[in-house]
Amino acid sequence: MEVMKNKFLTITTNIEGQPQESMFEIKTQTLPPLENNDVLIKCLYISIDPYHLPDKPHEAPEFITNFCGSCIQNHPWNVELIDEVKLYICQAINGSGVGRVIASENDGYEKDDIVCGLLNWAEYTIVKNENTLRKLNTMEEFPLSYHLGIFGTSGLTAYGGFFHVCKPKKGEKVFVSAAAGSVGNLVGQYAKLLGCYVIGCAGTKQKVEMLKEKLGFDDAFNYKEKTDLNSTLRRYFPDGIDIYFDNVGGEMLEAAIANMNPFGRVAVCGVISHYTNSQKQVTPNMIDVIYKRIMIQGFLVSDFYTNDFKDFMPVTTDYVRSGKLCVLEDISHGIESIPSAFRGLFQGENLGKKIVQIAQE
Ligand SMILES: NC(=O)c1ccc[n+]([C@@H]2O[C@H](COP(=O)([O-])OP(=O)(O)OC[C@H]3O[C@@H](n4cnc5c(N)ncnc54)[C@H](OP(=O)(O)O)[C@@H]3O)[C@@H](O)[C@H]2O)c1
Repeated sequence: MEVMKNKFLTITTNIEGQPQESMFEIKTQTLPPLENNDVLIKCLYISIDPYHLPDKPHEAPEFITNFCGSCIQNHPWNVELIDEVKLYICQAINGSGVGRVIASENDGYEKDDIVCGLLNWAEYTIVKNENTLRKLNTMEEFPLSYHLGIFGTSGLTAYGGFFHVCKPKKGEKVFVSAAAGSVGNLVGQYAKLLGCYVIGCAGTKQKVEMLKEKLGFDDAFNYKEKTDLNSTLRRYFPDGIDIYFDNVGGEMLEAAIANMNPFGRVAVCGVISHYTNSQKQVTPNMIDVIYKRIMIQGFLVSDFYTNDFKDFMPVTTDYVRSGKLCVLEDISHGIESIPSAFRGLFQGENLGKKIVQIAQE
């Protein structure tokens, strides 16, 4: 293999609170020769996700890069151990990506295969653990980027979280937070397709209009304009909430619990308001939870990597093909744009799935 240079992103400091672009830098390395079983991938698209920020319990999957605590994956290049326990500055950051195989020493992959899996925030990734990779069944009619959003983790999170955890019934009243985001917009759309009454909240007027006019939500509001979330939800749901799909935690969770109907279900998908501010953690009224027999369940998308969810792709592709599901993507271009794309997630700058295109297909 010819000598190849690779640009990749690292963090310059442990990230706590709001991420800033100055906390990242681009480094250049020479790619080492491939070893047995290695697959060299040119990265085409990288998914930008909030999960890098919160420090996770020991039970968390042991392969994802985490910025504020343990940077878990042991990466062979450029590792400078700053703090023995916690932080690997200069280490490549990984996340979900779609790429093209450039060279392979692995029998399962050959040049020009299109793959999806754990790639680095980099131009190229040498994948050593083939279990973190899968060949994509690319569908000519859809862009490859869909495999990071609607056909990827966001889609499965929304589908599994809504149908499996919330166990919805037609006509039920559903509330979704971060409803214009990658997971939230799909939860709302799946709920509408089932025949639920759906209200979402989001952080700008433009997002609220889009939810109502483009995605067919029954109503939506800008939570940043509301001072009393409890009475806001009471006004939007005079007959109570049956299902709350929580992407944000904090005061919104507290207010939703106060407005739940008996036997209501809360799917705790994410608590993004805590990721940058641990003071946001609140305790909902547990007396409400007991007397109204509310079910609150956290989940991980990996819970749905089973055969039980084999209907997710056919159902979702049919919906997209027939125009019943609208695909919301927010794509930036170039490896240099990753830090601002990541920062923007925590400031509500994205509309739908945030992706960075690293190279042309
Ligand atoms: N359980 C799982 O397996 C799993 C899988 C994927 C994602 N998640 C979680 O699901 C949630 C949504 O993820 P996503 O990938 O779809 O991200 P996303 O919703 O596309 O982007 C994050 C959005 O959250 C909102 N936000 C940011 N800071 C906030 C705050 N302090 N309070 C309230 N809202 C805030 C912003 O929209 P606004 O304009 O509305 O503020 C922002 O656009 C996250 O909590 C994520 O960690 C969980």
